[in-house]
Amino acid sequence: MNIPSPLNPPRRLLLGPGPCDAHPRVLRAMAAPLLGHLDPQFLEIMNDVQTMLHAVYQTHNPVTFPVSATGMAGMETCFVNLVEPGDRVVICVAGFFGQRMVEIAERAGAQVTVLERPWGEVFDFQPIRETLQKVRPKLLAIVQAETSTGAWQPLEGLGTLCHEFDTLLLVDAVTSLGCVPVTVDDWQIDAIYSCSQKGLGCPPGLSPVSFSPRAVEVFSKRKTKVQSWYFDVNLVEHYWDSERFYHHTGPISMIYALHEGLRLVLEEGLQARWARHRRNHEALKAGLKALGLTYTANEKYQLPQLNAVRIPAGVDDLAVRKRLLGEFGIEIGGGLGEFKGKAWRIGLMGHNSRPDVVLLFLAALEQCLASQGIKVQPGAGVTAANRVYLSGA
Ligand SMILES: Cc1ncc(COP(=O)(O)O)c(C=O)c1O
Repeated sequence: MNIPSPLNPPRRLLLGPGPCDAHPRVLRAMAAPLLGHLDPQFLEIMNDVQTMLHAVYQTHNPVTFPVSATGMAGMETCFVNLVEPGDRVVICVAGFFGQRMVEIAERAGAQVTVLERPWGEVFDFQPIRETLQKVRPKLLAIVQAETSTGAWQPLEGLGTLCHEFDTLLLVDAVTSLGCVPVTVDDWQIDAIYSCSQKGLGCPPGLSPVSFSPRAVEVFSKRKTKVQSWYFDVNLVEHYWDSERFYHHTGPISMIYALHEGLRLVLEEGLQARWARHRRNHEALKAGLKALGLTYTANEKYQLPQLNAVRIPAGVDDLAVRKRLLGEFGIEIGGGLGEFKGKAWRIGLMGHNSRPDVVLLFLAALEQCLASQGIKVQPGAGVTAANRVYLSGA
């Protein structure tokens, strides 16, 4: 056979829904020499990762660790451990990832009640209260940052509401952790999962999860075995708790990556990081508006890190994305599900939430839109964004 040439991937600016670009320090950490997954030095690194995850998730939950796979594995881990066949579960669906939860919960044998909102909207607590009262579920699941619509679901108070009905609260924080507040203990979240490749600025491959003592009690008293061996927290937990008992070979280089990604988050500080995401979002939004684009989510609920905008009438979705990638090396996301062909998703996550990125993207997009017949005052997007930066907002 002809051996393929060595890898030489082109340089891209990853401004889609994720992965985003890993921070250079994260990539350097990944090149460090491998250790054995039970090496005392590696166990120290695992301790550090857990301590830093506690800080970033703002929790004291002892059962907090990264699942060795992407965000979907975090979703599966939460459902397969907390749900036993026949359990009643309520899932809030206002986009693609809410729908995914339904699929996963059904596979775990749950009796699912779906609470729906139109795509791009968020849930008020009153209909949730009414549904909890009627269904009395074991678990309610909701997506904090719906990546398919760019909508930001408020969570404060939802944990208390769920606990009134003896219901566990499960939250998808895949597109939120490291970008906007995620306050596990204060918000009384019982189970949560995220990913490495977005707000934490690492490559894809890990899904940090955390379980409240209430959730741990539920899965430690299960009547049936968890149908997945790999994701059974009662087993995998012994690799991450003080026993450090072999369960599977830890993904060493990814743990190095997460270690550095979390260090970067804490060095910057959570508040400062959230403020940075907000500032760059405001600048991007001003620029997109000046280019004639509107958001799919209501102004009040727009995610800073995932800007979903309507594709203007007459503009060829694929042609624009192809040109952005081919000429400028910039990747953005197309629409998912109901929004396929109708929306673009522009991610400013983690390391990529920066003024230089915003200004470059707006300049490139203006050219692409001009080639599609959308004419604006030259430099309108960049000018509007700069106005936000120069105003100190
Ligand atoms: C909100 C949400 N949940 C779950 C997932 C699944 O994560 P992954 O693709 O890392 O498996 C994604 C992926 O983007 C997501 O945006």
